Amino acid sequence: MSFSFDDPAASRSASPPPSPLSSPPSLPSLSSVSSLSSLPASRSLPLAADIAAVVGRLRAAGCVFAEDEAGLLLSAARTPAELAALVERRACGHPLEHVLGWAEFCGLRVAVEPGVFVPRRRTEFLVRQAVRTRPDAEVVVDLCCGSGAVGAALAASLPGCGVELYASDIEPAAVRCALRNLPEGARVFEGDLFEPLPEVLRGRVDILAANVPYVPTGEVALLPAEAREHEPLVALDGGRDGLDVLRRVTAEAGEWLAPGGILLFETSERQTAGALSAVADGGLAPGADRCDERYATVVVGTRTTR
Ligand SMILES: C[S@@+](CC[C@H](N)C(=O)[O-])C[C@H]1O[C@@H](n2cnc3c(N)ncnc32)[C@H](O)[C@@H]1O
Repeated sequence: MSFSFDDPAASRSASPPPSPLSSPPSLPSLSSVSSLSSLPASRSLPLAADIAAVVGRLRAAGCVFAEDEAGLLLSAARTPAELAALVERRACGHPLEHVLGWAEFCGLRVAVEPGVFVPRRRTEFLVRQAVRTRPDAEVVVDLCCGSGAVGAALAASLPGCGVELYASDIEPAAVRCALRNLPEGARVFEGDLFEPLPEVLRGRVDILAANVPYVPTGEVALLPAEAREHEPLVALDGGRDGLDVLRRVTAEAGEWLAPGGILLFETSERQTAGALSAVADGGLAPGADRCDERYATVVVGTRTTR
């Protein structure tokens, strides 16, 4: 059984991409891609044969959605050499989003650098739930922000005229990325969970989004190679039962939330009962929502006390 951490990679690659050296000679090779005649620096339209070469190379590497990916790579490359480099990285198993340098999230194009967790489309459900529950939110924190996709989407979706937005992550690469993605005025901190946040935020947070790592340690090895090899372990590994980081968040969240403020995080269906207990132990009123279409479970903890 493999752990379903909503890996877009899982749906894109049927199997780990083979080594380029093991590609059957009859399949289009990277050399046929790098000799593309129709993609000069001026970026005229590529020939059908060139597109077919890229699609063939990606398909040979195990990419299920080779046509779609080829279209994205072709539109990202400015020269044949650049295209060849992009296709090669993808064929070697790098996540498409790292190759392109961006991911789509809630209709936004979010910059994602190598070494940063790729925001999953399933997390759009968390954003939707946050906006639905607290459309009046004025103070928002994106804890464990990674690329900052959640914070950026919340800032773009909340109807008010600009929220006070804070984000933090323990990984310097994630913090750099979040600084690129979050709107002007947002403050991004590097450090362990709440530790780097300004003290003045205590008791003022309306939405605390905390998409913490939640893969049980023993199941990290079951994740698709794209995640295991190209996303930092700290972004995936949630400890023995996957809830270690989460329990640290729920223990402290109540001190940072305003009355009526909500903590939201994603979990797997199987972890939901444990996650709800952690929320209740932290003194918050627990609740959970499920989106079958996205295979997403979001747990919400509300500060009901004044
Ligand atoms: C599952 S990723 C989610 C990233 C982002 N929120 C998203 O949804 O795309 C978890 C993130 O938590 C960060 N992280 C893990 N442990 C942390 C800690 N103790 N303090 C702060 N950030 C942490 C990782 O660096 C990673 O960026």
